[in-house]
Amino acid sequence: MDINAIGLGCESDVLVVAGDADGSHLLDKVLDLPTICGLQMPLVGILPPDEIEILRQWIIDLGGSEGGALDGG
Ligand code: HEM
Repeated sequence: MDINAIGLGCESDVLVVAGDADGSHLLDKVLDLPTICGLQMPLVGILPPDEIEILRQWIIDLGGSEGGALDGG
């Protein structure tokens, strides 16, 4: 957690913000939004909605654990 993206121009984005899916660069990358920083991931096509939902739920669940362990998981 609290690791910033390294993509050019995206350095101020945090990869995973525990509990905040919409604030997480990881989730941005799998969404087909015109506003995302860098390239959409995976490069060869958008993930199915149910898989994106799993990622979203995982990030939200991370928020449940009292600030979270830095190396938790
Ligand atoms: C489900 C599959 C994938 C996910 C969730 C994913 C996620 C991500 C994320 C979060 C970043 C930003 C990392 C950072 O800035 O620190 C990234 C960057 C990147 N990934 Fe992926 N990735 C996936 C598949 C792939 C594949 C298959 C390739 C290559 C064949 C790839 C190539 C790259 C490249 C070149 C970048 C840097 C470009 C950029 O910043 O937009 N990724 N990916």
